[in-house]
Amino acid sequence: MSPFSKSLTLSGRRIVAACVRHHSSLTTELIENMDKKATWDRFYTESSSGSTTFKNFEWFFGFDAVRDFIMPFLQTKSHPDSLLRVLDMGCGTSALGPCIYRHSPLPVRVTCADISPVAVRLMQEHVRAKAIQPHNPSSQLEFVELDCTQLHKHYSPTSVDLIVDKGTTDALLRSKEGKGKAGLVLKQCLKVLRSSGSLLQFSDEDPDARLLWLETEAQEQGVMAADVGVQEVGVLRGVCYYCYQVTPRSVVISNE
Ligand SMILES: C[S@@+](CC[C@H](N)C(=O)[O-])C[C@H]1O[C@@H](n2cnc3c(N)ncnc32)[C@H](O)[C@@H]1O
Repeated sequence: MSPFSKSLTLSGRRIVAACVRHHSSLTTELIENMDKKATWDRFYTESSSGSTTFKNFEWFFGFDAVRDFIMPFLQTKSHPDSLLRVLDMGCGTSALGPCIYRHSPLPVRVTCADISPVAVRLMQEHVRAKAIQPHNPSSQLEFVELDCTQLHKHYSPTSVDLIVDKGTTDALLRSKEGKGKAGLVLKQCLKVLRSSGSLLQFSDEDPDARLLWLETEAQEQGVMAADVGVQEVGVLRGVCYYCYQVTPRSVVISNE
């Protein structure tokens, strides 16, 4: 095993163990299969069973830890007449998407998408039971079951302003069979984002590894299709977290 894959495995184990303290067989399944719908269905079913009150589950941290990274993207409209389109990709039962809907001063359409129908149903039931008031009365919030390797089935090209990804790409990259899916997800994001749009990945992966991966995967026929940057979010429980920003570039491929 290379030092790189070893550090990924240890990191994945630490996060999963911290999140799932009681279910050891589920922990083992999660560590290797975080790219699988069935794993997450089981995770959200088991995390919500035995309790009558809904509680958001947050991977790494909640909205407050990253609001300063997200809110600057919600200050300018891409088109005067339309809502800003925001996607929380692999939303799980996190409050990130609902918090964006609640706090955005400009009208937004926030889509919280996940491959797990269990997570989507829990969130739909939660907002039905406890309505969230948006800052802007024209804002919209929806929860959809969607495999993000196939974003083109839900979105037209260049139609999304902001994609947030808290732990989803990490989950794919850390899975035995998920690395190809992580690359597909990135390419799909670059297709559906507007030229003025951005993808924000919140991750604990070290910049040496993630920037190299992003720069490699964002190439189309050897040409860089995106600009990539990183900022430190901060240290929480001894772990340093990062915000990776990916912005599409218009790629001009010459036939000469
Ligand atoms: C590490 S969890 C993060 C959940 C949430 N973003 C949070 O911050 O708590 C990864 C999420 O990605 C979802 N997921 C995995 N593969 C996916 C895919 N191909 N398309 C959409 N969601 C996916 C899982 O169901 C899970 O909810």
